[in-house]
Amino acid sequence: MTGQASLWRAEHAAFRMLLSMLERELAAFERGAVPDHGLMADVVTYLEQHAEHAHRLREEAAFERLVAHDPSLSILLGRLRQEHRVLAACAAELLARLGELESEVVVSREPVESAAATFLVYYRHHLAVEERDFLPRAEVLFTPDDWAAVFAAAGSEADPLFGDPPGHRFAELRRRIDREAGAG
Ligand SMILES: [Fe+2]
Ligand SMILES: [Fe+2]
Repeated sequence: MTGQASLWRAEHAAFRMLLSMLERELAAFERGAVPDHGLMADVVTYLEQHAEHAHRLREEAAFERLVAHDPSLSILLGRLRQEHRVLAACAAELLARLGELESEVVVSREPVESAAATFLVYYRHHLAVEERDFLPRAEVLFTPDDWAAVFAAAGSEADPLFGDPPGHRFAELRRRIDREAGAG
């Protein structure tokens, strides 16, 4: 049953693409250019809301089933759960700093740069650990019932960014992604 794990990796790949967009905006900001803070906020909001409501719900269900198969994984899975909470806090911090950027005339770059850098490093680390330590174990241990339960955990709400059509909230971000994909 590796198909389900490849869906997982594909979602991670989409998250990484969004993190790279965020990083490019951050680099422009560091060079002194005016950042597209709306785009940055959209990326963080999507990652946090979608990840919170779909991807992470499935992961939390998967962690529970995985530890039932192999109790020795409980420390690793507890740490990944904690990372979800830290990521939510990092996202909230970055959104708050981006909100200040939008509302203030003169802005110090440092708080935004450090909040964004922390979010990028932590998020990428989290994806890498899941792919190295969690997904391979799930591929070996999960039964079709496990996968079915895990995928049912998030419901079937349409993806607000990658769905067809995307939701109104993320339509601009989707246009930017499609434009960059077309240009690549
Ligand atoms: Fe995760
Ligand atoms: Fe994940």
